[in-house]
This record gives sequence, C-alpha cells and structure tokens, in this order.
Amino acid sequence: MKSFFLQVKEVIKETSDTVSLSFWHPINEQIKYKAGQFITISVPTQDGKKVKRSYSMSSSPASDTAVIVTVKRVANGIVSNYLNDHVNAGDFLEIIEPMGTFHFETEENPNRNIILIGAGSGITPLISIAKTALKTEADTQVKLIYGNRNEESIIFKKAIEELEGQYAGRFIVQHILSQPSSTWVGEKGRINQANTTLWFKEVGVDFKKDHFYMCGPEEMMDQVKLIFDLYDVPKDHVNYERFNAPMIDEPTEAGEELKKQTITVKYDGETHTFDVLPHQTVLEAALELDIDLPYSCQAGMCTACLGKCVEGKIRMDEEEGLTDKEIAQGYVLTCVSHPMTEGVVIEID
Ligand SMILES: Cc1cc2nc3c(=O)[nH]c(=O)nc-3n(C[C@H](O)[C@H](O)[C@H](O)COP(=O)(O)OP(=O)(O)OC[C@H]3O[C@@H](n4cnc5c(N)ncnc54)[C@H](O)[C@@H]3O)c2cc1C
Ligand code: FES
Repeated sequence: MKSFFLQVKEVIKETSDTVSLSFWHPINEQIKYKAGQFITISVPTQDGKKVKRSYSMSSSPASDTAVIVTVKRVANGIVSNYLNDHVNAGDFLEIIEPMGTFHFETEENPNRNIILIGAGSGITPLISIAKTALKTEADTQVKLIYGNRNEESIIFKKAIEELEGQYAGRFIVQHILSQPSSTWVGEKGRINQANTTLWFKEVGVDFKKDHFYMCGPEEMMDQVKLIFDLYDVPKDHVNYERFNAPMIDEPTEAGEELKKQTITVKYDGETHTFDVLPHQTVLEAALELDIDLPYSCQAGMCTACLGKCVEGKIRMDEEEGLTDKEIAQGYVLTCVSHPMTEGVVIEID
C-alpha cells in the first residue's frame, strides 16, 4: 500500500455536519482513481497515535481536476470530527492510495441505465459515479434515489440540481426525506422495498440489463436487496459499498459463541500473542495494544488486512471481500475476524 501526503486545496462546508476536502495532486504526479473508490486518511490523536479511516472520492476522475472527499460527522467519532473541525486549506494529510472494488467502469457504446441508490453520506461514491457515467457514456441515463432526514441534510443538493440541468433528461433524481419540513412536497419516508420498487417501475428500470450501485445504511441495503432477489437481477450488475462492517453476534450453526480467546499473529518478523474480547475484531484488539498491523478500510472491503489462519477457527462478520476459494484456503480479513477457538494463529505477509 502506497502512502503519501496530500495538501488540502479547499475546505467546503456542504451542510451543518459535512465538509468536503479537496486536495492538490502531488507535483509531477496525478492521483489515479476510479469513480466509486476511496482513499484512507491518517490523523493524529491526542495520545500521539495515528488513526485511519476511509473516505470515498466524491469527485469524478473524468470531470473534476481536484481529488475530493466528503466527510459527515459521526457522533463522538474521532476522525470525522477532526476532519470537520481541524483541517484548513494548506494543511497536509497522510493518505493511503485509492482502492476499492466498488467502482464504475466506462463501457464503449453501452445500452444501459446506471441506477444509484443511496442515503446520507452514502451519496459520496454515487455522485462520483453519476458525474463519470454522464460525462463518459453519452447515451447512458443515470437514475438516483437519495434518502435523507430533511432538506438541510441533503449533501450536494445544489450540485445535484446543476447536474440535472446540465444533463436534462439523462439524470433523473428522486429525493426522499424521513423528517421533512411542512413545505416539502416530494416523497416522504425512508428508502424501503415498497417505495423503491415503485420508483424502479416509474423510471423504467430494466432488471436484467441495468447496473445498480448502492451505498447507505445496512437496513436500506437489506430492503433493496430483497427487490434484486425478487426480480433475479444478475449478481454482477449489483454493486454495493459498506461504510461499516456488520457485527454478527449470534452463535454459529454449530452453537459456538464469541468469547475471549488468546490468539497469535505473526507479522513482519514478529510474533504477537494477545487476547481478543467478544466485542472486538482481531484488528481492533491488536490496535488497542499498539500492535501495528496493516489495515485501511476496517470494513472488510479492501483486503489491506489480509492474513491466513493456519491454526484454529475464525469467523468473519463480512465475507464479501474474499473469494470462496480464498476463504477455503484459510485467508481472513483481520478487521472483520473473530477467533472462535483457542490457539488461533494468523500469518500476515
Ligand atoms: C470504504 C469506505 C468508504 C467510506 N466513505 C465515507 C465517506 O465518503 N464519507 C463519510 O463521511 N464516511 C465514509 N466512511 C466512513 C468513515 O470511514 C468512518 O467510519 C466515519 O467517518 C466514522 O469515523 P470516526 O473516526 O469519526 O468514528 P469512530 O471513532 O470510528 O466511531 C465512533 C462511534 O460511531 C460509530 N460509527 C462509526 N461510523 C459510523 C457511521 N458511518 N454511522 C453511524 N455510526 C458510526 C462507531 O461504531 C463508534 O461507536 C467510509 C467507510 C468505508 C469503509
Ligand atoms: S482493512 Fe480493509 S478489509 Fe480489512
């Protein structure tokens, strides 16, 4: 993983709890990324440590000159509040290079719609994909359903309106608000199976041909996945991004429950033996003890924390980041892994 420092070009307040940070490209180098991918930002903490969090680019590699990320505050969150409160134009931030498999590939002469489903800060990779698809595929229509709490919390409200004007007839947007003001005349509620099915029909979604990109809370994605199952949408047409890994705390089919286990991790010529508590992942337990393991997204999406379980048994909260073959070979992502037996040994290359 390549890391480098980028200088902040501009800090833009998007809403009361969200800022966009745009970065200059380094001298003599262009940061290359695909629409939908993320970078990971490292920030210093008060106790002299560094914490890393991932942020999707909201800029488009096809139409924006700067690299831009957009960060929404999370209550008591370390990095999101730091980036909202303490970053100014001219500052340098340590970045890990763009990565992620949730990305848009431009096709030549495509005959398809791009369907985007998002809520809250989940708009960030979707706006990048929208701008890129509209710019690079002249005949493609982009259709976005975007859920928020109220009018003020809609990130990129103005930018979305401008794109609707610029690409009239090719960019169709449906806002839906859960707690709108009394003057709101648009859709009300949260994105769910019923209202999204209706919207899909209204905008003429072709379940066999169109490509779907989705990013938002777990409940929203679960509801929309029900529609994909019902209409048998081809699996390779469905793309989704998670900002948090889901935590599974039910017992396994064999009745095993999460409990404190002592494990061994071998990395970079060192052997670390430590306890992992039931609520912790292997990576969280290591970081808490200042054991420096590799990681980036912490959501089972990027594989930066890949290791191989050579003894004992691991359960992963999220398996999407690995192929079935890799899982069968014992590969694990430490950021979503829990030891299920004593004596787990993980080797990291
Ligand atoms: C691939 C990827 C792309 C991402 N892109 C973006 C993006 O473009 N914009 C953006 O704002 N965020 C994005 N995130 C989320 C981001 O990485 C951080 O998780 C988020 O900013 C919270 O970090 P924090 O340090 O402020 O909070 P932490 O200090 O990590 O968490 C504080 C508390 O809030 C909870 N929490 C953490 N994240 C969330 C959340 N999203 N919603 C509700 N509760 C939460 C935690 O469980 C914890 O209890 C992305 C995450 C991933 C994995
Ligand atoms: S840190 Fe990205 S998959 Fe674990």
